[in-house]
Amino acid sequence: MMSDSAPTVTGTWATRWTFILAASGSAIGLGNIWKFPFITGENGGGAFVLVYLICIAMVGIPIMMSEVLIGRHARHNPITAMGQLARESGASRLWGGIGWMGVLAGIMILSFYSVVAGWSLDYTVELFAGNFNGKTGEEVGKAFGEGLLQDVPKLTLWHTVFMALTALVVALGIHKGLENSVKLMMPALFILLIGMLIYSATQTGHFGEGFAYLFDFDFSKLSVDAVLAALGHSFFTLSLGMCAIMAYGAYMPKQASIGSTVITVAILDTAVALVAGLVIFPIVFANGMEPTQGPGLLFVSLTTAFAQIPGGQILGGVFFLLVSIAALSSSISLIEPSAAWMTERFNMGRATSVVILSVIVWIFGMGCLLSLNEWSGEEYQVFGMGMFDLFDFLTANIMLPLGGMFIAIFAGWIMKRSVVLNELALKSLVRFNLWRAMTRVISPLAVFIVFVVTLYQKFNGA
Ligand code: PFF
Repeated sequence: MMSDSAPTVTGTWATRWTFILAASGSAIGLGNIWKFPFITGENGGGAFVLVYLICIAMVGIPIMMSEVLIGRHARHNPITAMGQLARESGASRLWGGIGWMGVLAGIMILSFYSVVAGWSLDYTVELFAGNFNGKTGEEVGKAFGEGLLQDVPKLTLWHTVFMALTALVVALGIHKGLENSVKLMMPALFILLIGMLIYSATQTGHFGEGFAYLFDFDFSKLSVDAVLAALGHSFFTLSLGMCAIMAYGAYMPKQASIGSTVITVAILDTAVALVAGLVIFPIVFANGMEPTQGPGLLFVSLTTAFAQIPGGQILGGVFFLLVSIAALSSSISLIEPSAAWMTERFNMGRATSVVILSVIVWIFGMGCLLSLNEWSGEEYQVFGMGMFDLFDFLTANIMLPLGGMFIAIFAGWIMKRSVVLNELALKSLVRFNLWRAMTRVISPLAVFIVFVVTLYQKFNGA
């Protein structure tokens, strides 16, 4: 444990906008472009989207503000920050556990995240090379399920390339690495996405259908599992509950307003998810395919569409390039909390800590990767899930909501009111009280209720 007199992190983002870019870079990723469309499909479309939007507004935004405020006030990595603020508030050192759970969740998420990002890198190359041109749905399905997912050397290669890229950016530090890369990646991503949206709106002839699928709120399709998925996804997509945003908050300039900055990030993230849906569903419908097919939605349905349409080779290549960029700007934030902790705690070079962590993640990632093929048998499963699905389930549905709940309770109940008031510096007391009501009561209660109902359902065999 570091002493109170330990030097705080030295760097700060150049401007408020750099923080916005970095935090949106973290938030916008595979969660928006790969996961959001397929879980929306699995959970029946519009009603799920509505619950997800409510979770973002009522739970996500207040918790993101809490993370930034904790990080910026402490100006340390999350583990040290939580321990220090707990002491400062006269609370138990156990609160430091939130930082530990965050670091663990980051490593677990990155393990499977890197594998999926690897698929995306592979598809970027394959599509640009024209290898999917003219293939039928069945052939594309086979190329994914029986081809790529079974090809351990290829999967390993791309997983390794992606981890190496992530490590490189993080090792270069917050200015040269994180700041420079997001300044380049985020505008590129927005431009590519808008281009794709124009295509989907004008060329597919099924834009209205895609739009209705996302925004027709049919509550008869909503299940309790769907509510848990919506809550979990709102944490995942905003990078909450595992201290990534807290780590970024530690570098946030003092004069920047936390409230408006966080709302901007949440709006950007939500907009990208909705636009991704508006790009993907019309293309899927235009090709007579089903939106319900799970993780393969992007890699099978959408890719079949790219294989069939004129210009799909380029369009598809560009699309997967976009997905890879979005993944990279998120993966760097998955490793930043632990890298910052190791660098501060052991006084070691940033590059050394990043290399050690990346090797650990790479090994876990190999476990996730093998659980899709060599280790897909029941003897390798826990709760009926292989390592890939288990890590996804444990992090998105359990660790992130729990982490977020404790962060909210910490900011709302444990930290001194005067400290929080000063750090948030909201324009009016009404806004402050609103934030406080959300973090003290609404967010923790929402997470708690969803958990209890889910457990109840599971025990009743529903
Ligand atoms: N928000 C990222 C996405 O939507 O892809 C995933 C993620 C990044 C989750 C960073 C958690 C995190 F700390």
